[in-house]
Amino acid sequence: MISSSRGKMAPSVSKRSLAVLAAHLLGASAASCDINSLNATLNGRVQPLAPFSRPCFSDYNGTTVAADETACTTIQSKYSDPYMRSSSPSGYMNNQVEMCASDPNDQCVLDNSDPTDPLAYVDATCNQGNVPSYYIEVQQASDATEAFKFAECSGTRLSIKNTGHDYLGRSSGKGTLMLWTHKLQSLTYNAAWKPDGCEGCPAGTQAITTGAGVNFNDVYEFANKHNVNFIGGYSPTVGASGAYVQNGGHSVLSPVYGLAVDRVLQFKVVTPDGQLRIANECQNQDLFWALRGGGGGTFGVVIESTHRVDPAVKLVSAVIKFTSNDTNLLPFMDIVVNNTLKWAKEGWGGHISGSSLINVTPLLTLAEAEESLADVVAYAKAQGGTAVIEEFSSWYEFYEKYVSSNAVTVGVTHFAGSRLVPKNVFETAQGRQNLMDFFSLILSKGQSPYIPIVGPVLYNYTANSTSATPAWRSAIWELGSGTAWAWNSTLETREQKIAGLQNMTATLEKITPGSGAYSNEANPFTEDWQEAWWGDNYAPLLNIKNKYDPKRLLNCWKCVGWEESDAKSSCFSAFN
Ligand SMILES: Cc1cc2nc3c(=O)[nH]c(=O)nc-3n(C[C@H](O)[C@H](O)[C@H](O)COP(=O)(O)OP(=O)(O)OC[C@H]3O[C@@H](n4cnc5c(N)ncnc54)[C@H](O)[C@@H]3O)c2cc1C
Ligand SMILES: *[C@@H]1O[C@H](CO)[C@@H](O)[C@H](O)[C@H]1NC(C)=O
Ligand SMILES: *[C@@H]1O[C@H](CO)[C@@H](O)[C@H](O)[C@H]1NC(C)=O
Ligand SMILES: *[C@@H]1O[C@H](CO)[C@@H](O)[C@H](O)[C@H]1NC(C)=O
Ligand SMILES: *[C@@H]1O[C@H](CO)[C@@H](O)[C@H](O)[C@H]1NC(C)=O
Ligand SMILES: *[C@@H]1O[C@H](CO)[C@@H](O)[C@H](O)[C@H]1NC(C)=O
Ligand SMILES: *[C@@H]1O[C@H](CO)[C@@H](O)[C@H](O)[C@H]1NC(C)=O
Ligand SMILES: *[C@@H]1O[C@H](CO)[C@@H](O)[C@H](O)[C@H]1NC(C)=O
Ligand SMILES: *[C@@H]1O[C@H](CO)[C@@H](O)[C@H](O)[C@H]1NC(C)=O
Repeated sequence: MISSSRGKMAPSVSKRSLAVLAAHLLGASAASCDINSLNATLNGRVQPLAPFSRPCFSDYNGTTVAADETACTTIQSKYSDPYMRSSSPSGYMNNQVEMCASDPNDQCVLDNSDPTDPLAYVDATCNQGNVPSYYIEVQQASDATEAFKFAECSGTRLSIKNTGHDYLGRSSGKGTLMLWTHKLQSLTYNAAWKPDGCEGCPAGTQAITTGAGVNFNDVYEFANKHNVNFIGGYSPTVGASGAYVQNGGHSVLSPVYGLAVDRVLQFKVVTPDGQLRIANECQNQDLFWALRGGGGGTFGVVIESTHRVDPAVKLVSAVIKFTSNDTNLLPFMDIVVNNTLKWAKEGWGGHISGSSLINVTPLLTLAEAEESLADVVAYAKAQGGTAVIEEFSSWYEFYEKYVSSNAVTVGVTHFAGSRLVPKNVFETAQGRQNLMDFFSLILSKGQSPYIPIVGPVLYNYTANSTSATPAWRSAIWELGSGTAWAWNSTLETREQKIAGLQNMTATLEKITPGSGAYSNEANPFTEDWQEAWWGDNYAPLLNIKNKYDPKRLLNCWKCVGWEESDAKSSCFSAFN
């Protein structure tokens, strides 16, 4: 059953209750409050949603059901396949998003270390967890309009799911009606694109417009056909129009070309009042600003977005690896820390994950790249490792060779916990020492550093043109230290893991004072989340939220406008 409780007593709720009451008294628009009439309006597209692994179970929510062995075998063999998850309405990349994390009995997952492990699903019950009750396959903007009408009238909570990559559980939600945008797959290229409604615009820009459901794999392939460079994420299956761009959006090319919010030119979006709006530099500018960093699932349902692209560029990549042991990782990190300012000036971006480094720059020649990385290459080789520095004629060539094969594992429970590390940390001996101490600390806990080098250091930013945290503008690294728990862990274990994550976040905050975090990849339980994720932009973002969504028809986890009391009714109540 759809829950009508929003778990808080804000004036907006009682206003809505009054509206519902009034509708009943007047006998007016009562029909739109009924899920069956919504279903009829949408031609039967309001469908019940069961958890992804349900076909393996023969008990669903306390009722005996038939297991589907064929479907189950497919799920088991592709349990960590992001394509299968993102193309299913119930597929989420990280298990904490579909389980009810605060209640270990309320879930329906397999043993990710061995999906055929019968312990997980034989004689076990599949429970709904945090999976929405119903979903609508969105085919056009008017579907979102109908959903908003229904939500307002019935008090039903909404969620929006695109690819299901969100780490914070913001694309699911117990008891919600979910809008599934995956089928919005349009892709167009325009060599001289101009924003809609801009009078006397100067010459057009090269741009690609993507439907809300399009993922990076498809955009990259499409951009390559048109011989242009699209700045996007390091995962084939993350979406180009969802929370990636609405929350910041980093690429390994961001050090030179900026963040996704710097490159997006226009959104078509259905706001909670049901209007389809165009937001760009000439109309609905406040909404445009908010959608450039204020977060997904907050200001409306984006139907499509348009992004600036550039002619394809050559780039140089470096893939450096060695086998780490108890003693050889810290000296490697020392070289990395000492070289970071120099590498930033040279346009390098990439990822360091333990003893593996995969970086790219569009600014150096092969010979310059070899010289730039000489220290770190020599060190890796001395550890019996390898270093390959090579040139690619385009991003797509590099993507095909390295990005797909180095995708982050999914189908697991994994919380991100990263913080933006500003340039000034690298400028002082104390700052560098603090980083080294942090690495020692996490190594002592059996973890290894994860560093997306994605700060837009060379990008010529126009002040306040986006609403993503201003901390991005002085950041060089995103420094991560997440946590994970086993599929069958107890609540006590889960609480300990989150306490550890809180401790790591506090440690990272201490060594990066005044900086912030990228909410898409931050600790979901960050205490000062408004400040950490948006800084001074939070207050104006809240004003825009109040303008477009005064009734909080959209209200995702720690999104702009969310209140602490909303945690109580969520699946993360035990940890917040
Ligand atoms: C394996 C992996 C790799 C990643 N790599 C990168 C990376 O390289 N760079 C980077 O910046 N981030 C990366 N991320 C983080 C990623 O940006 C976030 O997970 C982001 O939330 C994904 O957005 P989505 O729309 O694809 O996913 P979803 O989980 O479907 O949606 C996320 C949020 O956006 C909202 N949303 C989705 N679609 C819409 C819409 N049409 N209108 C309004 N709201 C919408 C949802 O309600 C939800 O709140 C990665 C994550 C994973 C798991
Ligand atoms: C599960 O069962 C409970 C009653 O036991 C019911 O309230 C709930 O709606 C059911 N959920 C689903 C998803 O079927
Ligand atoms: C909506 O209608 C379709 C087609 O008749 C049906 O399969 C589905 O179960 C209905 N949804 C709800 C919520 O009843
Ligand atoms: C890094 O710089 C520090 C001084 O800031 C120095 O002590 C250390 O030896 C350097 N490490 C490497 C590997 O060059
Ligand atoms: C780690 O590996 C390096 C290079 O192979 C080696 O010199 C060193 O002794 C190793 N250290 C440990 C603790 O095994
Ligand atoms: C940066 O942008 C400003 C205006 O937005 C422009 O005046 C300036 O020349 C640009 N600088 C560089 C280095 O491109
Ligand atoms: C969890 O499952 C594993 C098998 O994956 C098993 O070895 C372990 O005992 C289980 N732990 C708990 C707490 O049930
Ligand atoms: C993290 O926990 C350790 C104890 O395990 C404690 O000494 C340290 O002060 C904590 N750090 C922070 C920043 O809370
Ligand atoms: C930034 O722009 C937004 C939207 O136009 C505005 O509300 C806000 O006040 C601006 N912030 C600053 C610091 O100028």
